[in-house]
Amino acid sequence: MSAVEYPKLKLDRSMALFEEAKALSPGGVMGIRRPYNFVQGEYPIFLERGYKGHIVDVDGNDYIDMLCAYGPIILGYDEAEINEAVKAQMDRRGFCFSLVQEVQNRLERRLTELIPCAEQAILVKTGSDATSLAVRIARGYTDRRYVLRCGYHGWHDWCVEVHGGVPEEISALTEEFEYGSLDDLEEKLVAHAGDVACIIITPVAHPLAKPVMAPPPGYLEGVRALADRYGAVLVFDEVRTGFRVAMGGAQERYGVTPDLGTFGKALANGYPISAVVGRREIMQVAEKKVFVSSTFFPNSLEMVAAMKCLDILERERVPEAIWRRGTAFLEKLGDIVAASGVPLSVSGIPPMPFLTFDRAEGDGEKTYRARREYFYTQTIRRGLFIQPYHHWYIAHRHTDADLERALGIIAEALELTAGKFPAGAGD
Ligand SMILES: Cc1ncc(COP(=O)(O)O)c(C=O)c1O
Repeated sequence: MSAVEYPKLKLDRSMALFEEAKALSPGGVMGIRRPYNFVQGEYPIFLERGYKGHIVDVDGNDYIDMLCAYGPIILGYDEAEINEAVKAQMDRRGFCFSLVQEVQNRLERRLTELIPCAEQAILVKTGSDATSLAVRIARGYTDRRYVLRCGYHGWHDWCVEVHGGVPEEISALTEEFEYGSLDDLEEKLVAHAGDVACIIITPVAHPLAKPVMAPPPGYLEGVRALADRYGAVLVFDEVRTGFRVAMGGAQERYGVTPDLGTFGKALANGYPISAVVGRREIMQVAEKKVFVSSTFFPNSLEMVAAMKCLDILERERVPEAIWRRGTAFLEKLGDIVAASGVPLSVSGIPPMPFLTFDRAEGDGEKTYRARREYFYTQTIRRGLFIQPYHHWYIAHRHTDADLERALGIIAEALELTAGKFPAGAGD
């Protein structure tokens, strides 16, 4: 064995800030950023800054970041050209008014030119804003109640997976179907025949802690056909895939056009903006019948950021570049995993690679968990920021050296893991 265990990182300032945060806010930090989603005590909790494909924590540790802020960072951190455009808007025009600014039209036109299903667009701020608005539009258009969903769609009442604080009557109107099974979807359409307002699905499956799955051949076409047969609006939730798998999202790459699409995350490389786009006939219900308005929706800084981000994505052919580099990354990752003897599955599509730990025959539950924890302990200590339960991303500003280093770190961590927790060794 040549790889050696690295010592624990110095994280004193992160831990002190977390103690302070817990007194200030329930849980200290929100949701998926809480320490139990990583390896407790081994990962930083507070960051100081980011640059290109790296982040630096408040204790000065520098990491290659392959979590990319959970998706918005498609280019890299501190993208000067976008920041300059935003600063110019701030300095010369301002961004928060009682009326809208012209950039709204320019961005909406751009979205309709890029995204296959987009005849009209509504600009909002978060992914949850977009998915919730799409569902409301679908209900308004169909005068139906049920929502069939597949994937994570945010934190609002209609889809939140933790039901605390949500009346049972609301949760009962949303039902989850299994990705990849047309039979399961049809069964649910039949069970609520005539009352399904929409089918909302992430076109690439990326469930938490499970392998990422590209659409099986014919699957999205089958979902499209079922939506048509049962009169449900088809919504592709492209909050993660938008501008990443192609400029026009998964609907462009996989050639299936939904009625509505929701976009967010990568649209502005981290500035908060999202959109619902879709067929004019359906979108039109938001003119009168369906209400949508928010104080901050018309703020223009993030629209300016989105325009500039789209310029860069097109100019540098970013989705193609990421796809090409991600393909090579996944191939090498597959070789490393196969050579390691550690029970793992490589999954993902090129922009979104992932590793999931499998339970080998004879593994005890404790061993299986300890093995995963040990692997992620060794990767974070070596300066690679990846997540045990959420797939990773390739960003445009990751250098070839960053990606090679990431693979090297994974190989070393797997070598150590194989030695320490051999497959099938019980507990
Ligand atoms: C596919 C998908 N839809 C919706 C959302 C919700 O977006 P937000 O967290 O911006 O509200 C997310 C967030 O991760 C997502 O991945």
